[in-house]
Amino acid sequence: MHVLVTGGAGFIGSHSVEKLLEANIPVRILDNFTSGTRDNLPNNSQLEIQEGDIRDEVAVHSAMKDITHVLHLAAQVSVQASVENPPESCSTNIGGFVNVLQASRANDVQRMVYASSAAVYGRPVQLPLSEKAMAQPCSPYGLEKYVNDQYAILFAKEFGVSLFGLRYFNVYGPRQDPQSPYAGVISKFISMIEQRQPLAVFGDGSQTRDFIFVKDIAKANVQALQSDMGGVCNVATGKIHSLLQLIDILSRCANQSVEVVHQTVREGDIPFSETEITRLQALMPTNDFTDLSSGLTALLQYTSQTVKK
Ligand code: UD1
Repeated sequence: MHVLVTGGAGFIGSHSVEKLLEANIPVRILDNFTSGTRDNLPNNSQLEIQEGDIRDEVAVHSAMKDITHVLHLAAQVSVQASVENPPESCSTNIGGFVNVLQASRANDVQRMVYASSAAVYGRPVQLPLSEKAMAQPCSPYGLEKYVNDQYAILFAKEFGVSLFGLRYFNVYGPRQDPQSPYAGVISKFISMIEQRQPLAVFGDGSQTRDFIFVKDIAKANVQALQSDMGGVCNVATGKIHSLLQLIDILSRCANQSVEVVHQTVREGDIPFSETEITRLQALMPTNDFTDLSSGLTALLQYTSQTVKK
């Protein structure tokens, strides 16, 4: 295998690159370094870095040279930014996606795995969410990811490209910037704990999410490249936690009591999320996801080290 990882310098990308290199698989990344950084990447002779944008056809085609597999993670990842500037978000998340898809086809790559999202489902009508649930995106970002899934189905069926879309749920872990507009609640809470500030809970804290550790996402990505499954697959642990449960575990992991301040419910917030992971279990039969407490402990340790630096 020789894998091209688009967005390889980003949060999920850099962990996926590490996992591939651990397995002795040579990697090339294509990244425009708008949100990813070189610091996220290891020094490794098996790793090649190409700076470029997925909207640039020439850059994408040149990045495909001698590549057997593509892991497409580069995207405009902020839901909020997609609401504020839909054309800009569309140009990366649909235009860029189609560029990578077409280049994979033209270069006869053996397989392309790409990042879809739980945002495709929008506000769930029925829980737990299986891949068969109706897509009802409620943001341009969710719609863009759904359009990706539809393109993938078409390119697989009509042009014989091997494609697999991973619908990530709530991802957390090292290198997710708490200041970034797409940082999840865990990054934000840990940053507040570090600063000994109260945690702002939007609503009563009963809302549930399926939180998955980024290293498990990286593992799923690598296994997805090596499998022959098609269509889309939810990527989540299958276990849910309410925000209040999350805070309780966080406080124990940090060995610190935390103060909570309740604020008004965030506009458009999803009250409950729960995921059905039968397809993922077929991809990863060992089902050994990092439990929330271990993931939070690892993240707290990482954060305290980076704060000290
Ligand atoms: C995710 C997206 C969000 C999008 C939504 C719908 C991210 C980080 N967020 O939200 O932009 O609109 O899917 O597709 O990708 N919370 C607090 N305090 C905080 C931050 C969050 O109480 O300081 C709450 C939120 O109101 C929410 C829960 O924590 O109920 C989780 O929030 P978040 O991590 O943003 O994830 P999603 O709600 O799934």
